Amino acid sequence: MTTPVQQVAGLVIGSVESVSPNEIRVLLELDAPGATALNTGTPSSFPRLNGYVLIPNEAGGTIGFISWIGIERSPYPKRSGLKDFGVIDLPFPLRKMAISPVGTLTSSRETGSTKLSYELVRGVVAFPSVGDQVLLPTQDQITAIVCGRESDKRVEIGTSTLAANAKIRVDPDKIFGRHLAVLGNTGSGKSCSVAGLIRWSIEAAKQQRVANQKTPVPNQRFIVLDPNGEYSAAFEDMRDQCRIFKVPPVTGDIRALQVPAWMWDGHEWSSVAHAQPGAQRPLLMQALRDLRAGHETALPRETAIRRFLASYRIQVAAMAMRAPNFTTDFRARKDCERLFDDIVAEVRVFESQVSAQVQVEALNQLAISVEQVVAARASRGQYANYRVSEVEAVSAFILLAMSLLPDAVGAEPISEDSPISFPIRDLPDHLQRIATDQGGNVAGFISTLGLRLRSMLADRRLGPIIDQSTPPCLDDWLGDYIGTNGAANGELAIIDLSLVPSDVTHIVVAVLGRIMFEALQRYRRITGQALPTVLVLEEAHIFVRRGNERDLDTATPQHLCREAFERIAREGRKFGLGLVLSSQRPSELSPTILAQCNTFLLHRIVNDLDQDLVARLVPDNLSGLLRELPSLPSRQAILLGWATPIPVLVEITELPENQRPNSKDPDFWDVWTGQVERPIDWTAVVADWGVAQTPPVENAEPQATEVDPIAEADPPDPTSPEQDDDVPF
Ligand SMILES: Nc1ncnc2c1ncn2[C@@H]1O[C@H](COP(=O)(O)OP(=O)(O)O)[C@@H](O)[C@H]1O
Ligand SMILES: [Mg+2]
Repeated sequence: MTTPVQQVAGLVIGSVESVSPNEIRVLLELDAPGATALNTGTPSSFPRLNGYVLIPNEAGGTIGFISWIGIERSPYPKRSGLKDFGVIDLPFPLRKMAISPVGTLTSSRETGSTKLSYELVRGVVAFPSVGDQVLLPTQDQITAIVCGRESDKRVEIGTSTLAANAKIRVDPDKIFGRHLAVLGNTGSGKSCSVAGLIRWSIEAAKQQRVANQKTPVPNQRFIVLDPNGEYSAAFEDMRDQCRIFKVPPVTGDIRALQVPAWMWDGHEWSSVAHAQPGAQRPLLMQALRDLRAGHETALPRETAIRRFLASYRIQVAAMAMRAPNFTTDFRARKDCERLFDDIVAEVRVFESQVSAQVQVEALNQLAISVEQVVAARASRGQYANYRVSEVEAVSAFILLAMSLLPDAVGAEPISEDSPISFPIRDLPDHLQRIATDQGGNVAGFISTLGLRLRSMLADRRLGPIIDQSTPPCLDDWLGDYIGTNGAANGELAIIDLSLVPSDVTHIVVAVLGRIMFEALQRYRRITGQALPTVLVLEEAHIFVRRGNERDLDTATPQHLCREAFERIAREGRKFGLGLVLSSQRPSELSPTILAQCNTFLLHRIVNDLDQDLVARLVPDNLSGLLRELPSLPSRQAILLGWATPIPVLVEITELPENQRPNSKDPDFWDVWTGQVERPIDWTAVVADWGVAQTPPVENAEPQATEVDPIAEADPPDPTSPEQDDDVPF
């Protein structure tokens, strides 16, 4: 039977030699363990870099990380008995350690129990003094150090090799609530960790629900933006719980990825269409407003008509400004004439669509008034002009008619940004129409914009993603991509972006991010509560690249994409939207986004720049731990930040083969040596490209064979943005 004092004495491994705020030097006892420590009751390796030691003090104990171990020649440590001043000690090789203080371990005894319970608090309450004893933490203490509070331990992600294989558990509220960045070289295990984190979170929630006697369907929402198309393989066994979206054509239960272009806001449209700020952008916005206003199905017809009239009124107002020049500007007068004719014709149609008598009369009156203005001009002679007062009068008549038509109560005005579906293919024509209506050179200015839009819509790789012949409505889309009530349609959505043409991946990802963010923002506004949702962005350095000061063009899709995610990073937390970023190039990531990530899971990082960057994320006294980054084996990672009281080295739980993301390295050797087969059928590949092959002509002229039919067809290269220009329109 050992007394507590004896027990503690058995754990002493050294004493403090010097103290500074970020480093404490420890002199090891001569008989301190050399490789494996048994004094805590469980064998643990000691001394080991990044292991933990404890320095007891009045508040509990200061926890230190071992950051250096070495041997130094020092004065002879101890000599029992009387000091003989005639003896000169030769320097003696002594083992020493440098430790970084990282936190404080407090202990409390529960009433009625003899067992102490430990809790880790951040920060160092009291620094030790020279000569203080340094102890090896016991198993219970180690568990408290690496695992945190009992109540926080919800999802197990791995074990700690440095702490006698204590289980490492994380609190989802912390790890997802304030954005997580998973960083590391390719092949270091990021995707496996992310897939594991999702899987273990779902499983843990399911268990808890069963324990609480609830239905075993966790009300979770994980959305994975997967540019490498590797995640669907990892969740093969949970197919009923996930929705997988891929670029059409799709088979089986995989859904077609749809990011309809009507969801794009004005900014996104002008970025994709490269609309120039001068004439093109305002016209494009006007066209978008018109089309959206015209196709808002939920709107009563009267309100839609009111909006059409409002749009006419704007055009008439613009005409009134040109009216003083009618004498010289013959074209302007013609335009005015045409505008008035259009108004009369359209208003006559509207008249038949409204039901209330006063509205019929108001519209009839409007048509008659405009006809009178037209007739009055004609009566003055063939070349007479409209007077400014006449044009202004038309504007007033329209306003009068509008006052009798109801506006949608409480509805936001239709803006170019509203996600209201409209037939996208009408956009170039409508644009042309309003440009022509404006007269002058406008049609010329926008002709290139029209061409670009047409060629984009005709692009057979893009069409199926952005242009639905039967537009789904936004609520169905949100149900599909974010999840339906109670996660009835599954906890996980995997959006496979691997076959999205590279010139539009940015805009697709930007739109996905923005719509999800805005949907959750509105959810909170309506219900007053946040809807916890996790958005995973793999290969984040592609989508949220660090901005370049020289890059002044803020309208590129890359810029939009970064902006959308920077906004999520900054504000997402308020609306329950947690980001999980995974990247192999942290130094290329947007600093705004990285700065908003509060938890980091760092896998092996070899590159200097990237190491420097992550070193800056942690306080100085912990940088020792990060020096291990270049040598971390796969599956091991350092977890630090908000989700863990002190940084811990985790060995992530091993995922079985069939639960890993499908990111195997190409097996050159096995293919070379015939271990595995790789038959080639380029025809199938070309057919997949969507290039129609013309069968070789039987008795062709000799010259004809010189022209390579494939070269002529010019198969589009999915990586080349230029190829758009080759699409016939
Ligand atoms: N938790 C894990 N369980 C099982 N294997 C893993 C784990 N982490 C990494 N690996 C191994 O490492 C390889 C690369 O991991 P991966 O997650 O694809 O790396 P990254 O996404 O960083 O490129 C995987 O194919 C797998 O063999
Ligand atoms: Mg990966």
